[in-house]
Amino acid sequence: MNHKMFSQVFCTDNVNKNASGTVALASTLENAKMLSLLALIVPLIVSTSCDEVSSLNNRSFPTNFKFGAATASYQIEGGWNADGKGENLWDWYTHTFPDKIQNRDNGDVACNSYYKWKEDIQLLKDLGVNHYRLSLSWSRILPNGTVNNVNQKGINYYINILETLRANNIEPLVTLYHWDLPLVFHELGGWYNPLLADYFAEYARLCFKVFGKYVKTWITINEPQTTCVQGYGIGGKAPGYLHSGEGVYQCAFTNVLAHAKAYHVYDKEFRASQNGRVSIVLDSAWAEAASDKPEDVLAAETAMAFSMGLYANPIYNGNWPQIVIDRVGNRSLNEGFPASRLPQFTPEQIQLIKGTSDFFCLNTYATSYSQYQNTVNESIGTPDYHLDMGVRSYRDPSWSAVVDWVALVPWGFRSLLNYVWNQYDGVNEIVVTENGWADVESTLNDTARITYVSEYLSALLDAYYEDGVNVTGYTVWSLLDNFEWTNGYTQKLGIVQVDFNDPDRTRTPKESYGWYKGVIARRCLLESCVN
Ligand code: BGC
Repeated sequence: MNHKMFSQVFCTDNVNKNASGTVALASTLENAKMLSLLALIVPLIVSTSCDEVSSLNNRSFPTNFKFGAATASYQIEGGWNADGKGENLWDWYTHTFPDKIQNRDNGDVACNSYYKWKEDIQLLKDLGVNHYRLSLSWSRILPNGTVNNVNQKGINYYINILETLRANNIEPLVTLYHWDLPLVFHELGGWYNPLLADYFAEYARLCFKVFGKYVKTWITINEPQTTCVQGYGIGGKAPGYLHSGEGVYQCAFTNVLAHAKAYHVYDKEFRASQNGRVSIVLDSAWAEAASDKPEDVLAAETAMAFSMGLYANPIYNGNWPQIVIDRVGNRSLNEGFPASRLPQFTPEQIQLIKGTSDFFCLNTYATSYSQYQNTVNESIGTPDYHLDMGVRSYRDPSWSAVVDWVALVPWGFRSLLNYVWNQYDGVNEIVVTENGWADVESTLNDTARITYVSEYLSALLDAYYEDGVNVTGYTVWSLLDNFEWTNGYTQKLGIVQVDFNDPDRTRTPKESYGWYKGVIARRCLLESCVN
């Protein structure tokens, strides 16, 4: 049976692009047949770039597949000092360094969801989602970060949300930490300080205890890679540090340790009574080899190892990826360091961290090409994460994109799903916890977002049905236009528009909201699907 619906256009470079990669559209007999058929009719078809592919998988989403939408506390809540909330890293960063944020924006009010959460849940209900991914503000619950001072009003805020979600039959996917670190921990060194792992485990224990009755799916940490590379390496996010040579690795070390400790708290103290599951959200762009040359294939592997692998490898396979150990070790010695800049796990820590995930949570937005760049013996004397990696990454300028970190490359998404499935031990289920399209105008007629999400969902179905990847959920980022970190309110990813000039922060569903609602109701990307 043909599971692809090709309409007027056909992407001639889909096959070529993947010639060296892990997944080619013609990789199945079914598609090979389809392609030979198309060869006959190609002259009648408008040949176009991959961006304009309008072929969508016409299989139904599996019956257990879950659709959702996501947000994060600092990006939507506002109420930055309401009802006893403590100050966090992003409150401090935006207030202290306003010029580091586009338009000097901050999250003081954001979408005002601290007061408008009922309206948000109504939007979710009308959308028909199975789950809602939200995050808890650590300093709203523990104003000083530590469990000796609990803010009951903060706890009540989340209990109200969780109870209302339950009443509306929406499953919460709760992230404990989405970058809004209580300020006191930043003052103690933030993610450079391995002791933060213990504080995080204490906070996690409290959350499991007070919210566990409502929550079956816990996510410890959101995208440690973004925190470590941008927050501690190249300075693009709070705290804005430029310690690319050591900071990224030390931050990664503390993050995976913190995750593992929280996982074990749940495993030992709560799993039996609450019967939930725990994971960590890891993000990556897909790194496609720029050519078939062995050095470019190795460059792509290296890029994946330094991005997702730094976090996924310790958690799923045990220890850092060997490529990272070797490359950072060699460069560190050549630079005159007495030991590698990559912190070493003890054998006990390797065991503690390995296997601490019940399913894989994946965030992704983009793809890039990877080309070999010889830096191992070059630029010695400049400790730097990107030089350690030694890969030149670039985008195909023809890929459709409005901002520089999102591009419409659905085949890259499919490759990434396959990579995660095959690369990491014990992964028996993947949930896409973030994916979406950014524009700058927040247009209500957001057809580019519909194109992006439909192409990505189609690639997801390809991965599921044709490649056998057990991907069981998709979560669009984001339910609402929101505070996009250092981009302030200049980049919009919501399927619901928020008027940030209106004190009431009026919400208006975009066309993508109605489109997504239809997909969820039909469980099909097209008007009708085959099973
Ligand atoms: C983060 C979100 C962010 C989104 C778009 C993800 O990396 O988890 O907080 O808004 O990307 O930038």
